[in-house]
Amino acid sequence: MTPLIEFRDLKKSFPGVQALKGVSFAIGTSDRGEVHALVGENGAGKSTLMNILGGEYPPDGGRLLLDGRETRIADPHAARSLGIGVVYQELRLCPNLTVAENIFLGRERELGGGKVRWGMMRAAAKGILGRLGSPVDPDSLVRTLNVANQQVVEIARAISLDARILVMDEPTSALSLKESEALFKTIRDLRESGVTIIYISHRMEEVFAVADRISVLRDGSYHGTYGREQANPDQIVSLIAGRELGAELGGSRPGRRGPGGRGDKAVLSVRNLSRPGCFDGVSFDLYEREILGIYGLQGAGRTEVLETLFGLAPKWSGEITAFGKPIRNASPAEAIANGFAMAPENRRDAGIFPRMTVLENVNSANPAAMSGRFGLLRRGAMRDVYAEARRGLSIKTSSERQLARNLSGGNQQKVVIAKWLAANPRILLVDEPTRGIDVGAKAEIFRIIKDLRDKGLSVIIVSSELAEIVSESDRVLVMRHGGLSACLEGGDICREGIMRHAL
Ligand SMILES: Nc1ncnc2c1ncn2[C@@H]1O[C@H](COP(=O)(O)OP(=O)(O)OP(=O)(O)O)[C@@H](O)[C@H]1O
Ligand SMILES: [Mg+2]
Repeated sequence: MTPLIEFRDLKKSFPGVQALKGVSFAIGTSDRGEVHALVGENGAGKSTLMNILGGEYPPDGGRLLLDGRETRIADPHAARSLGIGVVYQELRLCPNLTVAENIFLGRERELGGGKVRWGMMRAAAKGILGRLGSPVDPDSLVRTLNVANQQVVEIARAISLDARILVMDEPTSALSLKESEALFKTIRDLRESGVTIIYISHRMEEVFAVADRISVLRDGSYHGTYGREQANPDQIVSLIAGRELGAELGGSRPGRRGPGGRGDKAVLSVRNLSRPGCFDGVSFDLYEREILGIYGLQGAGRTEVLETLFGLAPKWSGEITAFGKPIRNASPAEAIANGFAMAPENRRDAGIFPRMTVLENVNSANPAAMSGRFGLLRRGAMRDVYAEARRGLSIKTSSERQLARNLSGGNQQKVVIAKWLAANPRILLVDEPTRGIDVGAKAEIFRIIKDLRDKGLSVIIVSSELAEIVSESDRVLVMRHGGLSACLEGGDICREGIMRHAL
């Protein structure tokens, strides 16, 4: 049987790095659909391979066969006319257009003219969004949507193409459980109707829930394809990392506490914090040497609480006391001066400076480096921070001069974390710290956060990954519909307990 897609010895280099070192394997068959997962560490080459398939750029060497015929995909248009649709890892929507306009961007004419076109666009958009279980209004402007909803729009756009091959590069990284499940159902339906889906994810539960076969990339090379029945998640994870990772993954809670234990001084007290339309009457304390997890379903108000604490919210009421002093944190600058740092959820907009180098990015919140305005004198100090970040978080860069926007998605996320760690905060706020990060790096990030905690740092982590909240937090706040529904400690911190309060 002819494979639908075949890569033969594909190579691709970027300045300083060979992203694909001669990759050969096949995906799908011409006569029926398949869900094919593509997995690998941050920087393994997954997005690069998919960019070649999507016509973003040509390979430097090797061949690409579709239905057994050698094919050159000159540009994204060519890819689309060959029936290839791509959901990109980094969202590519036009913020000032509506949801429906974004879904049909560049294809409006296919839908007829004038008023008819608008009606059809809206109706079609509504249909696809409904299928994805999303309540998003086709008429809202994309810039008013949160990251999760933007991701849904991006997926809807790809599905509307009626593609024969659909690439999804980490489609669920910002989705809630419910939205992910709706997506999986759509994926299965599409496969039944003959579509081949290439699914990229770092979450093994997802991969094993949707994929028929799994292909592994490591460091730009291909490391085999496995049927879902042939391999278990631990084996795939070892293949991804090229070593056994079992013990690092944890998942249980023993031995979380470092020396010293939690301080009994509250470093931060929040009383009756309210923001109209977001959350109401939120009160809690954060202690010295503590990791406080905040769990809640999408829309419960978690991110909004963090934003308010970090000076990003225009209007709020209530009291915030930090280190014994009442504070307002009216702007991020004021928050930083008060010892706060925040790694935001949406790294693309708020976390990194895409056109600056990695060296500059990891130092962009570092007061020592900033005093020198990136001047020559400070270069040494900046290099130290860079070296530490690269080693500690295993950030994959070709050099300190690489532009942040050219890093793989997961490595951009690591740069955001590194930047805020370099700011030496006393209170660190992190929103979805491990979104898009591979399992090895995840363990590494939490090891560093715990290390800092044991040295006196207080951390608030917002995460949608229940397992992460359970294994990494000293205490857990649960939010529901804009209010706190529970504060759990010790043995009460477990999946069931948390879910009960979140629903
Ligand atoms: N446009 C580019 N310019 C320079 N280097 C690039 C570019 N795109 C990718 N790279 C490099 O190529 C390598 C592979 O990156 P790629 O984005 O394919 O990784 P990935 O497997 O998708 O990782 P992730 O899970 O983090 O998204 C990385 O080292 C990355 O820094
Ligand atoms: Mg990628």
